[in-house]
Amino acid sequence: MSDIPLKPTYGQYLELDRILSSQHPVSDATGKPAHDELLFIIIHQAYELWFKQIIHDLGSVLDMFDRNFVDERNIGIAVSRLHRIVEIEKLMIEQIKVLETMTPLDFLDFRNLLTGASGFQSMQFRIVENRLGLRPDQRLKYAQRDYHAEYSSRERETVLATEQGPSLFDVIERWLERTPFLATSSFNFVDAYLKAFGRMVATQRAELDALSGLTDEEKSVRRKMSEHTEAYVRSILDERSYNELREKGAVRLSWRAYLAALFINLYRDQPILHLPFQLLSVVLEIDEYLNLWRYRHSLMVLRMIGARMGTGGSSGHDYLKQTVEQHRIFSDLFNLSTLLIPRSELPELPAELARDLGFCFTFRA
Ligand code: HEM
Repeated sequence: MSDIPLKPTYGQYLELDRILSSQHPVSDATGKPAHDELLFIIIHQAYELWFKQIIHDLGSVLDMFDRNFVDERNIGIAVSRLHRIVEIEKLMIEQIKVLETMTPLDFLDFRNLLTGASGFQSMQFRIVENRLGLRPDQRLKYAQRDYHAEYSSRERETVLATEQGPSLFDVIERWLERTPFLATSSFNFVDAYLKAFGRMVATQRAELDALSGLTDEEKSVRRKMSEHTEAYVRSILDERSYNELREKGAVRLSWRAYLAALFINLYRDQPILHLPFQLLSVVLEIDEYLNLWRYRHSLMVLRMIGARMGTGGSSGHDYLKQTVEQHRIFSDLFNLSTLLIPRSELPELPAELARDLGFCFTFRA
């Protein structure tokens, strides 16, 4: 319970006396205060506040989606809250520049006093990852240790509860699975897509054969690449081979959810699909910017401590660099682009379905 008065002043409302008296550089006690340690503390505290805001916004979106029916009006609200998370992530990336005004030598003035403390232990960062949908078995380990090994039992309980879901990945997958339109009495999306895809591949092969300026060997390399892509696309569109890929971990969404995401991406110009497309785009951006932060943080770490071990005991830059690839959550949405076909070659939708996908007034006019 807070003891803020009913008509608080600026300072009371923001509890500034508590916030501004929460920076205690450990170097002060050594008799050799390190000037930049205050910046180091403030930067970390600012991140933790932003993590709190992300968890707050993400939590509200998960609540809206964690049910069998999502009120269409909520999708607009979800998109704007998720978009806010993207903007916060951009700020998190920019903020690294402020930290980099501290040179590696300045950092050495107090780094040895921090052994044992590391951003690796940030509970809120782990909650963000879990609530987005990073799977426990996907996480990189170092020295065979779990990320929660150093938490108290109460902290561990809090963080592990967020591993149980629902995550953003879970709710988006379920929402996609409920997408109608993939098979109606007059339209079968998979069949129509495969026909259009086959036509596109045949045209591209004919163009490649007719291309002057390439040697036979170069053409053969390109043909092989195109055959490889074609085989991949066909295995995605076949439920059984898709599920085999899924078992190997090559894709994560269920087949039905993947098809719905593809449908939304291909027919995003249809009025009813505008918002679903924005939702998928913003989810992809959240993943993209979190990874950009990971990459940016890993470069900053290289610059600050070179190849030294981290204060949390990891291999430092090397470990962080690997998380960039390994800790992606929505790779399926990125890979969808492999399956896109140009608008001009999209299978035409039956009139009835096109009407269902349009706003009513479009057809009354
Ligand atoms: C001089 C500045 C910094 C250095 C040298 C640094 C170094 C490191 C290192 C080496 C790790 C790997 C774990 C370990 O062995 O400690 C790590 C992880 C981490 N750091 Fe930093 N860090 C810095 C600033 C920050 C800031 C400002 C934040 C913001 C909260 C932060 C958040 C994190 C997080 C969340 C992890 C865990 C990443 C993961 O496991 O995916 N770090 N840091």
